[in-house]
Amino acid sequence: MSELPIVILDAVAPTKQRCILNRRGSTVWEVEGDRGKFAVKLGYPIEATSEWAAQEWTALAPAREGAILYRLGASYITYGDWERGTWNIQPWHEGPDLYHVWATCRSEGSEIEPHEGVARSCAESLAALHAQGWAHGDVQPAHFIIGPEKTHLIDLALAHGGAVSEGRDFPYRGCLVHYEAPEISASVLATGEAEPSPEADIYGLGAALLISGTGWRAVEYPDDAPRAVQRQAVVDGKRREVSMPGKLGHLVDDMLSYNPADRPTIDEVVAALL
Ligand SMILES: Nc1ncnc2c1ncn2[C@@H]1O[C@H](COP(=O)(O)OP(=O)(O)OP(=O)(O)O)[C@@H](O)[C@H]1O
Ligand SMILES: [Mg+2]
Repeated sequence: MSELPIVILDAVAPTKQRCILNRRGSTVWEVEGDRGKFAVKLGYPIEATSEWAAQEWTALAPAREGAILYRLGASYITYGDWERGTWNIQPWHEGPDLYHVWATCRSEGSEIEPHEGVARSCAESLAALHAQGWAHGDVQPAHFIIGPEKTHLIDLALAHGGAVSEGRDFPYRGCLVHYEAPEISASVLATGEAEPSPEADIYGLGAALLISGTGWRAVEYPDDAPRAVQRQAVVDGKRREVSMPGKLGHLVDDMLSYNPADRPTIDEVVAALL
């Protein structure tokens, strides 16, 4: 997609625009106008090819996210429809994501340990969401934007908690398997769908911290394994024997507990990092 739809140009009157992501079903733009800097998300359906089936939900995702952000009380949120699907405009959050912030910890022979304050700020952003009665459903390192004052948890398209109007809603079918809790993987394998939960978010945060801090996935499976094989490895509990250094070690191990009831709550995670 090389151009923004008229409805977006009308709303933001951009003086600068840059497409930062363009993949199946979704494009994201960084757009600057008189009123500030915004992220613009455009969704459209994925058409069937010989390699994958058609998917409609990507068209609905931006409006679903927009409606949730609005319900959560975020400011400067708008969303609506365009010819091919839905869109949203949301404030731009400046800063690197969790994976980038900890890049130096992962480099060969590095003695730099992951900073606990960064982990705490990520936990605080998830705590704010859980406190409002929502589960994120798509926790991953790229969704934590480490800003100068606070960390922002972005991409609420798959969140569950309050009501979402029927025309904007679609079933939850899991997330990136690296960050998917065993009970979610099991449900997706059995029925094709699952229910996001705070406990599964905790697992996702644990897996995101582990991968960003050490470079290792929580669960062992080959890089090129098909999605169903990855999920089966998660269900089989093939936890890789790698932990984070320092205070984060035990805490992240607990967050990655197989049984959801054994994981700490997000408030306990924040408290452990104070
Ligand atoms: N509000 C924002 N502020 C700053 N950057 C953003 C914002 N929203 C999105 N981005 C950037 O765009 C990228 C993709 O955004 P997002 O994850 O919301 O889209 P997506 O289509 O759901 O992608 P994915 O399938 O990877 O989850 C983010 O990783 C981030 O780099
Ligand atoms: Mg995303």
